[in-house]
Amino acid sequence: MVTVIECSADRLAFGTQIGSLSTSMPTVQVPLGNRSYEIQVGTRLIATLGERCRRLKIGTRCAVITDSNVGKHYGEAAIKSLKVAGFTPTLITVDAGESSKNLSTVQKCYDQLAAHRIERKSFLVALGGGVVGDLAGFVAATYLRGIAFVQVPTTLLSQVDSSVGGKVGVNLKAGKNLVGAFHQPRLVLCDLDTLTTLPDRELRSGIAEIVKYGVIYDATLFQRLEKQLDGLLEKQPPILSAIIARCCAIKAEIVSQDETETGMRAALNFGHTIGHAIENSSGYGKFLHGEAISIGQVAAAHLSARRTGLPTADVQRIQALFERLGLPTSIKLPGDKRDKLFSAMRLDKKVSAGEIHFVLAEGIGKAVWGQRVPDAEVNWALDQVKG
Ligand SMILES: NC(=O)c1ccc[n+]([C@@H]2O[C@H](COP(=O)([O-])OP(=O)(O)OC[C@H]3O[C@@H](n4cnc5c(N)ncnc54)[C@H](O)[C@@H]3O)[C@@H](O)[C@H]2O)c1
Ligand SMILES: [Zn+2]
Repeated sequence: MVTVIECSADRLAFGTQIGSLSTSMPTVQVPLGNRSYEIQVGTRLIATLGERCRRLKIGTRCAVITDSNVGKHYGEAAIKSLKVAGFTPTLITVDAGESSKNLSTVQKCYDQLAAHRIERKSFLVALGGGVVGDLAGFVAATYLRGIAFVQVPTTLLSQVDSSVGGKVGVNLKAGKNLVGAFHQPRLVLCDLDTLTTLPDRELRSGIAEIVKYGVIYDATLFQRLEKQLDGLLEKQPPILSAIIARCCAIKAEIVSQDETETGMRAALNFGHTIGHAIENSSGYGKFLHGEAISIGQVAAAHLSARRTGLPTADVQRIQALFERLGLPTSIKLPGDKRDKLFSAMRLDKKVSAGEIHFVLAEGIGKAVWGQRVPDAEVNWALDQVKG
């Protein structure tokens, strides 16, 4: 099932009023006609989940899908909030980690939904990181031919990236995200309090995607990161909320301009051609996604200086930011490993007529995509990040 995305907007409105809940937090509107929804960014949001769902006028039976790490911290609070608002929720907990993002877990979720008599008007809540969001979103897209779902992303990566754009899906043995759909949530709640329990390594890895938004789209965001990185790493709510909201707005804007990734949406893959190949060829689990795309973005920055005029000083700024984040900017590449990396790049979607395609930057804040790069130059870029 494929539903076309039509998001188009990046409005930021501060000071939302929800019933008796007077808040001061950014809201990103994603207008999709009758499927429009809001992304709320702020603190203490899980406690308001039930009340906010009630306003969506969806059925009373619902299920919260979470994972074993997130569930123990926030499962009870989510269920309580839903019950207080008059819903009849059930909690479905899957094992934490990428290995749960498959069809066998989907099947187990379907069985539990059926046992809880989840019906056409019921809804799901995805409470967790990108794994839970993709999995629960896919379950919601397909169960009874599609039911409503609400995203409560709890990793920085899922708050700034995977919860926006409507792509949901699971992995096959043959590769990641090979089965999926487009299914938009009815509401996204980015509760900053959940980040207090997020491991530091996961937080830093999520920031790699934020750096990417700065490089491809928003020089002001990039400068803000340079100035406020320490506050971001300390998880200071005003800094976190402004930056997360900006990233959601950028992604909504990009997706709106290119629903099916024939053009601009490809810019979101800056650093990912080499990054995905690093993840894939070194065995999933060695590098977190953000760590792999940190190396990939530094390599792409070098290529950009050579091919699309990115000033060398900006290559240094990009590398310096990743270094301050404690993310890797180089990788050991003995001959056989380099071969494996090339094979992985060739298997990627971004290859056509034998040449690997890259997203490159012309300056910080401006990306060009679909850049064909000959192997010799890809090799040169890898030399620049060789550890
Ligand atoms: N749909 C999209 O557009 C899109 C975009 C980017 C990535 N993704 C997908 O997202 C997935 C990666 O997401 P991720 O990085 O969030 O990984 P994840 O969901 O596996 O979370 C990372 C780890 O942190 C734990 N965790 C999550 N929130 C926590 C919290 N608040 N406190 C303590 N522990 C917590 C999880 O249990 C897990 O162990 C991949 O499967 C990727 O394919 C999807
Ligand atoms: Zn990514």
